[in-house]
Amino acid sequence: MHRFISRRLAPACVAVAALTLAGAATGQPAPSAAAGKIKVGFMLPYTGTYAALGTAIENGFRMYVQEQGGRLGGREVEYFKVDDESDPAKAPENANKLVKRDQVDVVVGTVHSGVQMGIVKVAKESNTLLIIPNAGADEATGPLCGPNIFRSSFSNWQPGYAMGQVVAERGMKRVVTLTWKYAAGEQSVRGFKEAFEAKGGKIVKELSLPFPNVEFQAQITEIASLKPDAVFVFFAGGGAVKFVKDWAAAGLKDKIPLYASGFLTDGTLEAQGAAAQGLETTLHYADGLQNPRDKQFRLNYAKAYKLQPDVYAVQGYDAAQMLAAGASAVKGDMSRKADVYKAIAAARIDSPRGTFTLSRAHNPVQDFYLRKVEGRENKVSGIAVKALADPARGCRL
Ligand code: PHB
Repeated sequence: MHRFISRRLAPACVAVAALTLAGAATGQPAPSAAAGKIKVGFMLPYTGTYAALGTAIENGFRMYVQEQGGRLGGREVEYFKVDDESDPAKAPENANKLVKRDQVDVVVGTVHSGVQMGIVKVAKESNTLLIIPNAGADEATGPLCGPNIFRSSFSNWQPGYAMGQVVAERGMKRVVTLTWKYAAGEQSVRGFKEAFEAKGGKIVKELSLPFPNVEFQAQITEIASLKPDAVFVFFAGGGAVKFVKDWAAAGLKDKIPLYASGFLTDGTLEAQGAAAQGLETTLHYADGLQNPRDKQFRLNYAKAYKLQPDVYAVQGYDAAQMLAAGASAVKGDMSRKADVYKAIAAARIDSPRGTFTLSRAHNPVQDFYLRKVEGRENKVSGIAVKALADPARGCRL
């Protein structure tokens, strides 16, 4: 577990300590020091199968702040970090390191849906602003939605639903699904199934393996013997690289059409190489969007990090844009929580993916692109579903 504090100045510490004491004496929570820094707490995976995703999110976030001269709402930004290891069991404790120990103004986290549930609980209990820069856990913008909980990414239901429509419209009838057995995979499959079965398709078998296992042989063998019209999968990060290679090595690439949410091929193409060529996926970002905002974003990202950006970098960048909307509405006074939340909820985010707004449950209402792998790119080939909103079942806001 690592924790990094950048440029923490002694006078700022004294000021914060004084305010904390003042808060304790009055029984009121300590207000943020208006003249101090905005404290951003990254709770992200920096190790394990999702490590690259955490880094891309942080890179994107920092880049937006840099573009604003290092300030949001007129205040400098200070970063705190916790490696959540994609381990749900440690999530409440890790979130409390940022909320209780570091007293951050906002938690930016995380990637893994199971870990997200622990962060949501801590954020709700403490009324801390939470911006989710990836994890799709449907609950966070469903039954567990809250005034302080926002997402810059997607709900698990969304990309699955978009792909369910595409596969049904292609006339596929019998589909097998395969995922890691945890919320992200299960909820993606549920979204896929909802759209696919509404248009007359049938899921003939739902296969899974524990997260983050990458021994896919038994499932691949079973799929080969089931001979479905197509397969829908959810995998991401290091596991996605391995699955795509194993699928091709088993000789199924040209035999059974493979469809997935775009995480299967985002940020992974260099490692997947020939095995990924031609794969089609749905996601809220793609290569070749040709909008000026995206072009500038990609140029800046490549220059800053010597890397091509991916969907995770975009989500991090937009998490910072959402924070900026809240911080500038209160001129940096993050203690005005209700006003911060109101401003973020009403924001139009000028994202590299295309402009989006937030639903009443605070989840992006956004286009889902159909993409096809060509070389090292997930080339956009169309819009699978326009302005898709998660149904936000169970959210009362
Ligand atoms: C999730 O756990 O919600 C998750 C993880 C990685 C992804 C997408 C979703 O790429």
